[in-house]
Amino acid sequence: MPTLATTVDGLRLPNPFVIGSGPPGTNLSVINRAFREGWGAVIAKTVSLDASKVVNVTPRYAKLHSSDGREVIGWENIELISDRPFDIWIDEFKRCKDANPGGVLIASIMEEYRKDGWIEIVERCQAAGVDAFELNFSCPHGLPERKMGAAMGQDPEVLGEVCGWVMGAAKRPVWAKMTPNITHIEDPSRAALAAGCQGISAINTIRSVMGVNLDTLRPEPSVEGWTTPGGYSSKAVRPIALRMVMEIATMIRREFPGRSLSGLGGIESGNDAAQFILLGADTVQVCTGVMKFGYECVRPMCEELLAFMERHKFETLADFKGRSLDYFTTHADLVRRQSERKAAQKAEAKRTVRSDGEWSGDEFVKQSDALSRQ
Ligand SMILES: Cc1cc2nc3c(=O)[nH]c(=O)nc-3n(C[C@H](O)[C@H](O)[C@H](O)COP(=O)(O)O)c2cc1C
Repeated sequence: MPTLATTVDGLRLPNPFVIGSGPPGTNLSVINRAFREGWGAVIAKTVSLDASKVVNVTPRYAKLHSSDGREVIGWENIELISDRPFDIWIDEFKRCKDANPGGVLIASIMEEYRKDGWIEIVERCQAAGVDAFELNFSCPHGLPERKMGAAMGQDPEVLGEVCGWVMGAAKRPVWAKMTPNITHIEDPSRAALAAGCQGISAINTIRSVMGVNLDTLRPEPSVEGWTTPGGYSSKAVRPIALRMVMEIATMIRREFPGRSLSGLGGIESGNDAAQFILLGADTVQVCTGVMKFGYECVRPMCEELLAFMERHKFETLADFKGRSLDYFTTHADLVRRQSERKAAQKAEAKRTVRSDGEWSGDEFVKQSDALSRQ
């Protein structure tokens, strides 16, 4: 019987499914619910020292539906980090650890470009008992106006410096969460790992405009008739998340073997999770999926991932982590491989014609070329 249990950066998880930072980890009550449902770990909604600067608006979500209108495939939000006071969070972190001593509770933190602020937030969260940190360098809306979030994640030099401050104070594992709103996601990831972070999380949301209402001519989500570009999530972003996870995993394998990777972006099933792990993720996070399907979705996800492992006779996650990375290459190499295969096929065709005499060699080659184009 395969096992989903895994140890990442010394954190012992019953399974690799982690609640991604956002509404599903927005207060103690829902975090406790997540542990009760069997999530492998919970990353709380991002906190900062001065929540009074965080002011949310409504509406702050807009959705892209499938053409039959039944399914949400893309989700835009203009939600900021937590607007709940830091002292309340510290109290809830303590109570959460009291109630779930074995549960892995990860604090997602964000601060301005100020060393004292980052050190204070790290020290106070770890004194409250959190098991690890995720550094939010990635929210694409609102916070960058204050040079926070994605504004840091897009500047590897600043990001490396901030990670250095955090690593000077942190006594628990630290994952740096990357923004996809950048050309080469390996660059900030490399800066975080070079500064000593234990792992990378990717991806946060993709900067987006959901659409324009053709009656009012106002873009959505419309706040008093106005909007601002937001962050895109849910299953529509999964191919982009997989590509970025692949790029980071390839970099980690070459330059920082042993560091960890937490993959997210559109994960809704055990088979989605299997793909992220095959591309190098140690753990997988789910945020919008929990908002769509509820906390209990972790159970079918675990079952589906176990079924995948049984099908392939994998005993542990390590047996298949990164397996599919080996099949990425350059386009020029694809051309070489294809022409070699075609040449081999032609040679085989000539041999076959000689032996059975039914088709002319040219006819066989035409047929097999047509087949390979399908
Ligand atoms: C409504 C909403 C709020 C979010 N808030 C945060 C946040 O506070 N901190 C953070 O690091 N990521 C936040 N995220 C991003 C998610 O954690 C995740 O990176 C992203 O949505 C992609 O994963 P998903 O498709 O599973 O949601 C938020 C996402 C959504 C949809």
